[in-house]
Amino acid sequence: MTIMVTGGSGFIGSNFVIEWLGKYNETIINLDKLTYAGNPENLVSLKKNPSHIFSQEDIANTSAVDKLLKEYNPRFIVNFAAESHVDRSIHFPENFIQTNIVGTFQLLDSTRSYWNNLGDEEKNNLRFLHVSTDEVYGSLELNDPAFTETHRYKPNSPYSASKAASDHLVRAYYKTYGFPVLTTNCSNNYGPFQFPEKLIPLIINNALTDKEIPIYGDGQQIRDWLYVIDHCSAIRRVLEAGQVGEMYNIGGYNEMTNLEVVNTICSILDELRPRVGGDSYKSQIKFVKDRLGHDKRYAINASKIEKNLNWRPSETFKTGIKKTIKWYLDHQDWVTNITNRDYRTWVAKNYT
Ligand code: NAD
Ligand code: TYD
Repeated sequence: MTIMVTGGSGFIGSNFVIEWLGKYNETIINLDKLTYAGNPENLVSLKKNPSHIFSQEDIANTSAVDKLLKEYNPRFIVNFAAESHVDRSIHFPENFIQTNIVGTFQLLDSTRSYWNNLGDEEKNNLRFLHVSTDEVYGSLELNDPAFTETHRYKPNSPYSASKAASDHLVRAYYKTYGFPVLTTNCSNNYGPFQFPEKLIPLIINNALTDKEIPIYGDGQQIRDWLYVIDHCSAIRRVLEAGQVGEMYNIGGYNEMTNLEVVNTICSILDELRPRVGGDSYKSQIKFVKDRLGHDKRYAINASKIEKNLNWRPSETFKTGIKKTIKWYLDHQDWVTNITNRDYRTWVAKNYT
């Protein structure tokens, strides 16, 4: 048996691939275009593992996808591939439309024709799991209840709008063709292999390289944070027992303001790697111009996956963030290798 993942060389996908191969004796086909966010180094530990088969392709390339499906006959397809950074979607929305909407459509269409031609048993067992985000629901006020799966879609950024569109296509393929889909809507992830354009790795990297730590606006926006390995276990659980056609919210039970997140990271770094001169890393914090259309608060009600599938995260923010910071301290080469010229161009564009 095999499974196919798309975007398996990015942050969450590579954690998923490593976890999967550590747990099961089942080959993974990893189809990834290797955009700036896809990094083969994430999977260097699998270099000699024949159960990881890599193919550098675009999810929108139907003939390549068709060929892989035919050759490897996967029982699960997990779609991680996406343009994933809100700030980039503000500067360059077009890539988001192409990959997140058109790409997901093409992938759905290829996998549906593959599924159509399977025998009855394989047809019944196939699952297409679409990895989505809580951002499709829009923004909450402080006292609003957390997002449930029936919350109205109200995306605010080109990123979340493109993910919302892809979720609708996934739903339509279930309703129209009976294609066996599952959708997960997860809160903000953090952990090993996250590209340092996102808040947590950006702060760690800027702190350690003596740069300003940029906080958008007043830093009072709230996110719910989930350790990436917990996201991977939730996806496995949904693949195993999720009901076809359903959506599952996944969250970490860790709502925090951005300022709280940054202060926590600075305090842990003060303890683990004290700053030369003795000042706290907090002295590097700088409040900068706010993000356009900045969503105020995301919060996940994860009671459906908890009650129906018996899943709960195993890490708190306190335990997960310490592991994450230690990982970045131990993998400074990984960070140096990706903070290259393209990365510096992006930082200059976004922060000046
Ligand atoms: P990422 O940006 O780190 O990785 C995306 C991966 O997709 C990269 O390896 C990239 O090369 C690949 N990719 C991009 N366009 C492609 C294309 N056209 N064809 C094939 N591969 C392509 O993203 P991530 O943070 O790992 O997120 C993975 C998924 O999870 C995304 O769908 C994202 O929307 C969703 N998600 C992310 C978070 C989060 O906090 N990071 C939270 C909830 C949901
Ligand atoms: P991010 O990691 O980009 O995730 P998302 O926008 O998908 O939630 O940002 C998390 C929060 O941190 C968000 O409210 C924006 C804020 N932020 C900053 O304050 N400064 C930064 O430099 C970045 C990248 C994000």
